Amino acid sequence: MQQTTRIAPSILSADFATLGAEIAAVTAAGADLIHVDVMDGHFVPNITIGPMVVKALRKHSALPFDVHLMISPVDPYLAAFAEAGADVISLHPEAGPHLHRSLQEIRRLGKKAGVVLNPATPASLVAPVIGDVDLILVMSVNPGFGGQAFIDSQLVKIAALRAMIDSSGRRIDLEVDGGINPATARLAVAAGADMLVAGTAVFKDGPAGYAANIAALRGG
Ligand code: DX5
Ligand code: ZN
Repeated sequence: MQQTTRIAPSILSADFATLGAEIAAVTAAGADLIHVDVMDGHFVPNITIGPMVVKALRKHSALPFDVHLMISPVDPYLAAFAEAGADVISLHPEAGPHLHRSLQEIRRLGKKAGVVLNPATPASLVAPVIGDVDLILVMSVNPGFGGQAFIDSQLVKIAALRAMIDSSGRRIDLEVDGGINPATARLAVAAGADMLVAGTAVFKDGPAGYAANIAALRGG
């Protein structure tokens, strides 16, 4: 497994009653980013947190906040998440009518812009905006919940995106989200991913297990 694989624990699987301490704990345990899943009960069938919580959490870790927006409409909330302390803001193309404009807006706000592909969304959708993204996030589950099983058909898409990124010559992170455990992490990295989101696999044993769980995802 590549040494460069970065791990982004998803706080969706953390103890919501003590999120600040949970973020501090995964930071100390070797996480590379903090993945924040924002759900609205409309774009996806679950509701989580908004910009006020992101802002409150900001002081508990110096790591970049990787904010995954599963909300529609999405444009009216980009500035609020930027101001709350997001470093990377990713959105689904299905969440609004003007993907290019939304990505431009994230960059105008001084943040890294990400596009997220659902399991049924093709890799080719990224081609027209390859110059406008800093990160491509492949969903290996249908968004909405942690603890789902990795969808193997996404490996072909990860490989296609790796080829697309390499031929673009641009520095673009390729992240995979959903059902990541040590076995599926290996598959995703072999297909070309360089960033992995993991909720259950990081948080399952409580804070004493975080460092070992993160290391296991890196293949160590
Ligand atoms: C799903 C979220 C994921 C989720 C991953 O909609 O985007 O980030 O928390 O959870 P696990 O790792 O448990 O599949
Ligand atoms: Zn996510």
